[in-house]
Amino acid sequence: MKLKILVTAGDGIGPEVTNESVAILREVAALGGHTFTFSERRIGGVAIVADGTPLPADTIAAALDSDAVLLGAVGGNEFNSLPPDKRPEAGLLQIRSALGGFANLRPAFAFKELAVNSPLRPEVIDGADILFVRELLGGLYFGQPREWNRETKEAWNTMRYTRDEVVRVARVAFQLSRKRRKKLTSVDKANVLEVSQLWRATVNEVAAEFPDVAVEHQYVDAMSMHLMNRPRDFDVVLTENLFGDILTDESSVITGSLGMLPSATLGGKVNLYEPVHGSAPDIAGKGLANPLGAILSGALILRHSAGLEAEAAIIETAVRKVLEQGFRTADLARANPQGFPVLSTKDMGAKVRETVKQLLAASR
Ligand code: IPM
Ligand code: MN
Repeated sequence: MKLKILVTAGDGIGPEVTNESVAILREVAALGGHTFTFSERRIGGVAIVADGTPLPADTIAAALDSDAVLLGAVGGNEFNSLPPDKRPEAGLLQIRSALGGFANLRPAFAFKELAVNSPLRPEVIDGADILFVRELLGGLYFGQPREWNRETKEAWNTMRYTRDEVVRVARVAFQLSRKRRKKLTSVDKANVLEVSQLWRATVNEVAAEFPDVAVEHQYVDAMSMHLMNRPRDFDVVLTENLFGDILTDESSVITGSLGMLPSATLGGKVNLYEPVHGSAPDIAGKGLANPLGAILSGALILRHSAGLEAEAAIIETAVRKVLEQGFRTADLARANPQGFPVLSTKDMGAKVRETVKQLLAASR
């Protein structure tokens, strides 16, 4: 198996966490006789400083020339006063749109070992396993017109979807439902927004192609409550761009930390993989970051871009085992009644890597 991976580590903790993910992918390649090649390009704040733009042309070219892109995080406080199109985040939105992936898969599940870290009661979250499918190329993030008019002192964004944009992401979500518990929850605000009425009507149309999948619709306000009250009731959750951004951060409460969550963006020319967390400038460079979200994003590369399902599952098992053994990063040790050892980013990466090695050796 040959795979060309572009790493755009970005800002803040991005380089630290992607390093650990890459080291594990290298191990998988070495032990399995695969050829994974890695190159690096700038994106976000580091690119603004070095190249004067959050997404240099050379990064886009390298991304389009690869089989998968692993992104760290973008953003930094020094850019907060810039307009949206000049900020590090603009680089991320541009690369998403250049690669064309519209279905952003964000799995969120409760790790038994981390239940103590969640403010939710263990019996509420135990066994929760949700796959969010967030539409990634439409809605308010990309809708035109958008403007802040300083003279008239008003500003506007446009939440816009075409039927086709909803159809394609809904099909991905329904297909994924078939491989899981065959239950899909579509989230909108159809009691207020026309764009949500189109969304709901279109999801119902697509549902007719998947009669074996049970569909329900939830308003986003109610959904944000249900997720905390009864997370186990949900399997695949399909939603538009902004609602998905918000609900997936919320769902990290189920998992115990935002640092645990991976994502994969599929459906375009090249798949894009990124942890859900941000650049966390306050802890950058201190070895405090949790690399597990990035490591699990690496597992998703193996699953969705390399067809190496067994190896992907081994990385996921390794993460679980390391947590079972009591190892934690700082974000996972806020509630640490048993006094579990708190590891640095590198040491956590090394533990998972070691475990992956053992599991791979045992599997042959
Ligand atoms: C995410 C992030 C991004 C988003 C930002 C950094 C542009 O919050 O991936 O969830 O809003 O999509
Ligand atoms: Mn977000």
